[in-house]
Amino acid sequence: MFRIRRFEREDLSDVMAIVAKTLGENYDPSVYLHLANSWPEAFIVATRGRRTVGFSLGAIHEGTVARLLMLAVHPAYRRRAVGTHLLEVFMREAKAKRMTNVVLEVRVRNKDAILFYQHHGFTIRGLLQRYYTSGEDAYTMEKAIP
Ligand SMILES: CC(C)(COP(=O)(O)OP(=O)(O)OC[C@H]1O[C@@H](n2cnc3c(N)ncnc32)[C@H](O)[C@@H]1OP(=O)(O)O)[C@@H](O)C(=O)NCCC(=O)NCCS
Repeated sequence: MFRIRRFEREDLSDVMAIVAKTLGENYDPSVYLHLANSWPEAFIVATRGRRTVGFSLGAIHEGTVARLLMLAVHPAYRRRAVGTHLLEVFMREAKAKRMTNVVLEVRVRNKDAILFYQHHGFTIRGLLQRYYTSGEDAYTMEKAIP
């Protein structure tokens, strides 16, 4: 069984390993800790036993628009609704903070994530050319919070 709860400092190394493995990024730990301080309820992890197997992390974008900065599940635990539960909790926390919309960016070649977000009612709103350091383009996606 998976447990969904708020991020704790002890989750940091697992979170960073998931980001390196699934998103190919290596952010400084201070980035995560800063975001965890800014909006603690929006930094959510999924755990199995002592292991952190997925997480989502958000920030206020502007006004009443929340931004889903990262959502990732360890490859060994995918297609078991972990991502869905993380997204649902994030949407709930955004609503509790009186946000009306959620926006995110996703690599145009990341078909799995695009299908996942479309499955959850997000639609593609725009294209950001050369958005990533690799030079890859991003789609912006958005969903109104029901
Ligand atoms: C996107 C991601 C978070 C989905 O997590 P997950 O736990 O596997 O997703 P779920 O099991 O909750 O999937 C829910 C639904 O989304 C859709 N979906 C998810 N992954 C999919 C895939 N690879 N292909 C097609 N549809 C997919 C399906 O409709 C799925 O329902 P189903 O399994 O009953 O068919 C995961 O693939 C991931 O971590 N990817 C790498 C990181 C990433 O790209 N994050 C997004 C950008 S920050």
